Amino acid sequence: MTTNSTSADPSLEKVWNQVESGEKVHVENIKGLYDNWTSSYDEDLRKHRYYGPSYAGSTFAEHCPEKGVHILDIGSGTGLVGEQLHALGYTDIVGVDISRKSLDVADKKGVYKRLVCAEVGKDKLPFGNNEFDGLVCCGCMLPNHFRPGCLREWVRVVRPGN
Ligand SMILES: C[S@@+](CC[C@H](N)C(=O)[O-])C[C@H]1O[C@@H](n2cnc3c(N)ncnc32)[C@H](O)[C@@H]1O
Repeated sequence: MTTNSTSADPSLEKVWNQVESGEKVHVENIKGLYDNWTSSYDEDLRKHRYYGPSYAGSTFAEHCPEKGVHILDIGSGTGLVGEQLHALGYTDIVGVDISRKSLDVADKKGVYKRLVCAEVGKDKLPFGNNEFDGLVCCGCMLPNHFRPGCLREWVRVVRPGN
């Protein structure tokens, strides 16, 4: 994504530019950015030829071909990754995101079993040790998004395996 990514509102563009530049942005503004972007997020990203979710889905399938697996989609947003995974035959997907409004959009797509609103890296994820068979995270390793240290929690909730 580059400048002029958000068609919805110029104020979103301003926050997005701060995010991209690495300038410190308060977590509430990150949440606000995505909460207020929901109406055009999917279309904006499509226009920018954002292939991340498609790539994430096919890469997941390559490493984890068993379709019955329990998957955690971290930073699931409006559900673009869930849609890809679902189209590939996965049906047991849980999404986590800080943006409640993005989760509402994802929910309407009917591809997630459960959606959880949480701040990744701050909140202890409401899942048991080794609960998931696999985890996918797409488009979230960005400045001002997940706090350092979040990987420890991801490792806790995904079972060890090949
Ligand atoms: C660029 S979007 C990617 C969404 C989706 N994975 C995709 O590929 O379209 C980044 C997502 O990370 C979420 N996010 C950012 N910081 C977060 C945090 N600390 N905890 C949870 N979600 C966060 C945002 O709400 C947003 O939905």
